[in-house]
Formats: sequence, structure tokens, C-alpha cells
Amino acid sequence: MSLAARIAASSTVVALLASSLLAQSASASLAASDQPTRARHAMVVTIQHDASDAGIAILKQGGNAVDAAVAVGFALAVVYPQAGNIGGGGFMLIRDKHGKTHFLDYREKAPAAATRDMYLDAHGNVVPGRSLVGYLASGVPGSVAGLTYAQQHFGKLTLAQDMAPAIKLATDGYSLSAEEAHNLQNKNLTRFPTSTAIFQRNGNFYQPGDTFRQPLLAATLTRIAQDPTDFYRGAMAQQIAAFSQAGGGLITTADLAAYEVKDRAPITGNYKGYEIITAPPPSSGGIVLIEILNILSSYNLPALGPDRSAAQVHIITEAFRRAYMDRGDYLGDPDFNTLPIKQMADPAYAAAWRASIDPTKPTPSKDLVRPAGFMPPPPQLPTPHESTQTTHFSIVDAEGNAVSSTYTLNGLFGSGLTVDGLGFLLNNEMDDFTSKIGVPNTYGLIQGPANAIAPGKRPLSAMTPTILTRNGKLAFVLGSPGGSTIITTVANDIISTVDNHLNIQQAADAPRFHHQYLPDRLDLEKKFPADVADQLKSLGYTVNRLAIADEKNPGVWGDSELIAIDPKTHELLGGHDQRRAFGKVARY
Ligand code: DON
Repeated sequence: MSLAARIAASSTVVALLASSLLAQSASASLAASDQPTRARHAMVVTIQHDASDAGIAILKQGGNAVDAAVAVGFALAVVYPQAGNIGGGGFMLIRDKHGKTHFLDYREKAPAAATRDMYLDAHGNVVPGRSLVGYLASGVPGSVAGLTYAQQHFGKLTLAQDMAPAIKLATDGYSLSAEEAHNLQNKNLTRFPTSTAIFQRNGNFYQPGDTFRQPLLAATLTRIAQDPTDFYRGAMAQQIAAFSQAGGGLITTADLAAYEVKDRAPITGNYKGYEIITAPPPSSGGIVLIEILNILSSYNLPALGPDRSAAQVHIITEAFRRAYMDRGDYLGDPDFNTLPIKQMADPAYAAAWRASIDPTKPTPSKDLVRPAGFMPPPPQLPTPHESTQTTHFSIVDAEGNAVSSTYTLNGLFGSGLTVDGLGFLLNNEMDDFTSKIGVPNTYGLIQGPANAIAPGKRPLSAMTPTILTRNGKLAFVLGSPGGSTIITTVANDIISTVDNHLNIQQAADAPRFHHQYLPDRLDLEKKFPADVADQLKSLGYTVNRLAIADEKNPGVWGDSELIAIDPKTHELLGGHDQRRAFGKVARY
């Protein structure tokens, strides 16, 4: 008898939940359009339709998935300035048609002058906002290095070809939907004249239907297309460093010249017949995802109830809680720490964690005890950080090369600061570090000393670009933004498809739930079924079901931009997250 069957049989609560909820159709809570978009050859799924079209245009010109990813990466810097960027950083997971994989780490780095306590005041308290807004918040940007590295090493077209759509979008402009026009009114941008001038026409805000042109950004992109080293070693590097230092920032020309992309080996694992290929440190995403899936590997989740039933959510949440405990205690930049990755991925460790899950009720985080004998003692120091706007895109080309990429400015519009004369926003990725031991970050995450600030170090991330294969064949391309919720979102998408057989569109739209060990709270999106929320409450969870949308609390999180491959017809199936209206599955 499987463990899940034993749980279902032995636990009256879970068994009762299971039977009472089996009748509830998973599709009841899904968006109206719950069918994936299909394509025979190639697909590009992003949060912004012009960026998706840019990717497809490059594929039609003979580019491969990496060329399309480079085109999309630069295009999103124009048409999705909240998170698309050249002033931030990110990750690109590539799996070529032969199955060879690369994980390009172009995460921002702390400037050489950064110090562990740089966000504390004289009394040792965190200065609110200092790691989030303005000059001191930015790490050394990696996006230009990452995208150009990808093009040089794995693309087929020239950099100028790959960047042409972005340059055109910046030059000619693009038409703003109501949602996009509204997003540009962000207060972070209003603080800084160089940002207000571009994104808010100095107070004469853009309206729906307006064409938004960015000539300064077009000129910057044109310079990069002609000579990508300009950003790190040329006149452009001098402009960036001068701008940073004039405002009290730390980025110097030496920092820019020292920036390097890391081509890392992805983390791999297995889940219910699929091979998982995902993000290694400095992202916590992949290893925490693998730990979650390892814990869940021997449950028959559908036997407990349908997707998003209380019985399933309970077991999955307990896996989230346990894996996030390890995340906080152990993870940081692998170039600065020895991380217990092997131990965290050990199935025997997952089994020991599984044995600690009570099928009838939650384990309070304060009572959670790590199984002995598997992990080294956690580093005895303090805490790190993570944050608020990011974007993910998924691409498969006609030959079967795949790219899963998540990149970010961290917060919405990053630090809020646009580099004078260059027209692009700088990140606030420094907030992903630990500002102070024991003080939760923007995401409420309490993390360990492995993520303390140090010169040249990369802050811990949760970004989890992921690819699944089955019997060596491409099966899913997955990922999402959402700060600390990224990992649970990707886990939810995998469980919805692999365990519960939702199609890829349904998976993208299914109401999300999240638990991160601390705070000890189960977060539910506003469209999460209220009756299931009530059942989880009566199981003993502190449930936080996000209420009506407002600017600060949209009631939703994440943005799954997904591709699945139909194992029978080999068609590409696109799932675009319908929480936002301006994205697109582009295909041919
Ligand atoms: O790297 C990270 O994990 C964060 N900087 C990501 C921030 C994020 O996803 C915000 N998105 N909504």
C-alpha cells in the first residue's frame, strides 16, 4: 500500500476531506478560457505580447530558441519596464535539442564597496527602504552580460539581429493598454526626475492607447548591439558609474569591468517519471523545489482529493514548510559558501521529513525539528532577503531547443532610478541580501548568514526557471516571478500537471497557495475556493486569503508563462497566466 493510500486510510480527517471534495471539479475555479494554445513548430510565452511577437519574429528569421530568448530579454526591457531590464539580472536555463543543458547565471553582484551592515543605522537598525529605493539599492547589473553571452555561445543570428525588435519597439514605441498605462504611474518612479521624465511624461501620465516611445533607451540598445562591451568596459560603463556615484551609489567602473556570467550546471532530480532540470544556487529555487518534490514523491495526491482540495493542500503545504526551513538556514552564493546541496536533495532525507508530516493537522513551524543525521549544523550567523517584480518567459523552437528564463529588477521598476542619459532602470537586488540577522525581508523571509552582504557576492534568489523531461524528451518549460512564492508556484504548476493532469493553461490559472515556514501562515490567492480555505482553517492552519485587489495587495501573485509538449501529437501547448491581460502565447 502506498504511503498516500495509508494516509488516506488511516486518517479520518484526510479521508473525509478527500471524499467530500472529490466531487468538486478543479475546473470550477479556473478562468473562462482554460484550453492551452497549440502550435506545431515553435512557441514563445511571455507577459507582454510585443515581446512574445519579437521572439517569434526572430525564430522565423532562422534564429534558435536562444536567439529568441535574447530578443525577448531585450524586448521586455522596453515593453515591460516593471521587470524586463538591462539594469538587473537573472537566469537562463537552456536545454538544446540533444539534451545538453546550461544554466546561465547573470545575477547582479554586490559592488566592491558593499559591506555587511550597509543598510543599518548607527544603532544597528535596518534603515527602512535603503536597500530597496534609490542609489544604494543596486547591485552591479548582469542582464547585458547574460543576454550577450547567451547569443555569442548558443545563438545562430548576430546580436544586432537579436536586438533589432527591441530597438524598434523603443524607437517606434508600443501601444499601452489600460493596465500598462496605469502601471507606469508607480510611485517609485515619481521619486526620481530621470524616471518621471521618461515613464510619466513629467506628470502628464500616459493614457490607455498612447504610444510609449523611449528614444534614450533605443540609443542605449543600439550602442550595445554595436558593441556589448561598452556597457561594462566602455564609455557606457563610465556613464553608469558616474551616475551611481553622483547619487551616493557604490557602482564603479571597476565593478562593471569585473562582472562575469557564470555558466553553471543545473540542479537535477526526478519526480513521478519526469526528470527535473532547474536552478542551482545562487538561486534557492531549484534545490528547494527538488526537496519539496522529493518529500511529495511517494504520495498519491489525486487519491486525497482533486487539485486544490484541502487534503492535497495540507500535504503539499507541509512539504513547502519543511523545505523552506532548510532554505533559510543554509543557502547563499555558492561562490562564497559550501552549501549542503547533495544532502538537501537526498531522497532518504526527504523520507525522514515525510515521516514527520501529520496527515491530520499542520506542524507549527516553531515545533518543526529537522530530522537528525542528514544535514550539517546550519551556519551560526544571521539573515538574508528577497523581493517584488520579476518576469519569466518560456521558449521552444522548431528543432526542440528550449529556454526557460526568469530575470528581474527585483522590486517593481527596481530601485526606481533611471540612469541619466541612458534611459534604463537600475535594480534594487541588494535587498535580496540579509540586511540584518533575524530581521525578515520584504517577503517576510528569515534566512541564514550564507546570504550576508559581501563585495562581489550574488544575493540569494528564489527564481526557478525549470524544464521537465520524460524519458529524455522535452515535456514542460516552466517558471514564474513572485519573490519567495516563486518556488511554490513552480511546484504547484508541476503538481497540477504531473499529479493532477490539469492542462497547462489550467495549471497557469489555478489559484495559488504558499507557505514559507516563517511566518507560519498559509497564503491563498483571493480566488482560492472559500470552502477549501475554511476546511484548512479547521485543520489548524492560520489562513491568509488575500482579499479584494488594491494597488498594494492585488490578491494574486506570480505569473506562470508555460509550455508543455503533447506526448502524443508532439504539439506545443502554451499556458499564459491570465492574471494579467497583456501577455501572449506567440507561435507558428
Ligand atoms: O531573485 C529573486 O528571488 C527576487 N529578486 C525575485 C523578485 C520577484 O520575483 C518579484 N516578482 N514578482
